[in-house]
Amino acid sequence: MHRVLVIVCASVAAMKAPFVLRRIRETGCETRVIASDSALNFVTPLALSSASGNELYTRGSWFSPQAGAQHLELAHWAEAVVVVAASADFMAKAALGLADDLGSATLLSVRCPVMWAPAMNTAMWEHPATGAHKAKLQSWGHQFIGPTSGKLGTRGEGEGMGRMLEPEEIAEQVKRVFAPKDLAGKKVLISAGPTREYLDPVRFVSNPSSGKMGFAVAEEALSRGAEVVIVSGPVSIPAPAGSKVVPVESALQMKAAMEDHFEWSDLVVMTAAVADYRAAEQKHEKQAKISEQVTIEMVPNPDILAALGQKKGNRVLVGFAMETHAGVERAAGKAQRKNADFICLNYPTREGTSFGGDDNQVTFVFPDGTFQDLPRMSKREVARLLLNEAMQRMQ
Ligand code: CTP
Repeated sequence: MHRVLVIVCASVAAMKAPFVLRRIRETGCETRVIASDSALNFVTPLALSSASGNELYTRGSWFSPQAGAQHLELAHWAEAVVVVAASADFMAKAALGLADDLGSATLLSVRCPVMWAPAMNTAMWEHPATGAHKAKLQSWGHQFIGPTSGKLGTRGEGEGMGRMLEPEEIAEQVKRVFAPKDLAGKKVLISAGPTREYLDPVRFVSNPSSGKMGFAVAEEALSRGAEVVIVSGPVSIPAPAGSKVVPVESALQMKAAMEDHFEWSDLVVMTAAVADYRAAEQKHEKQAKISEQVTIEMVPNPDILAALGQKKGNRVLVGFAMETHAGVERAAGKAQRKNADFICLNYPTREGTSFGGDDNQVTFVFPDGTFQDLPRMSKREVARLLLNEAMQRMQ
């Protein structure tokens, strides 16, 4: 039985913690639970201890002559930690390495995977401080599951970003930590983010790609045991822990970096939004403005996916395509022309799936025109299904 430690923070969603514990136990894990003093304003000790099937650990039980220092004992015991109803305050403490209560001291002592299920008001979630703490925690390999947008328990906010994932979803993610490493030994090469095509030293043509889809594929592949290289255009999100990132700017640089790593790879996923054109002439000096209208001559960039498709060998090649009309037909045409195993078609104009969001809605389109429609889901979930599909082709 796998051992999961649940740390409960003081957010309204703490009242759901007993259900989270139940659902995790239903997946066949043993649980222990720590609650902060203020978390116990939202949920009773008895509800937590009975749901976990074990005693409740609190500040009051931190040190005892019999048990010794409980943060060390619990950290040694846990095979995974999940912080539920994770508050902005607790994220900040963890990001700073503070250890002044049982939960934070335990978190500083564990060496196992750590997951965060945040729950807070939208303004607090969107505050740059919270964003910076999240990025810091992610850079240590911590995984964030949620939040999502929906009804919030806090005053004045009807709906918004910051709602904790449902207990079933949290349990599902926890279960995945113990999933078999079915990509162990596989080498996954991913392109992500936009490219920048400079007109002069200070101006460029680009697009709003955030890199989130590519980084989600990287995180999922890493969690399943793969080695991962990401060739990334300029993005502002942290690199997934354990990946190697090759930063590039232009399409030509991206092509060169992808070609450098192509031999090494077993699977290539081209999520990057490559600019189709670059300036015919990149000026070496900043161009001063002139009063007349200007025309900039652009020349086509090489198609990276098509170039890799030419020398595909036994590798599996997956592309992306954004279409506003005739999606399946056009994506199937791209899969054929570029010699890709399949294309993940997405829809830039559909609600909740635009550039930079956390969700996506894709259709897997195969070269023969067959397709599989998926509902809207998190980018991480899309990544999981994409890798399942690619795995089938690798064997
Ligand atoms: N792609 C690429 N190199 C390019 C352009 C696109 O490798 N110069 C890849 C993208 O990363 C993506 C796939 O090709 O995986 C499809 O991208 P998309 O821009 O939709 O395709 P295009 O062939 O550029 O078609 P369109 O005419 O729709 O722009």
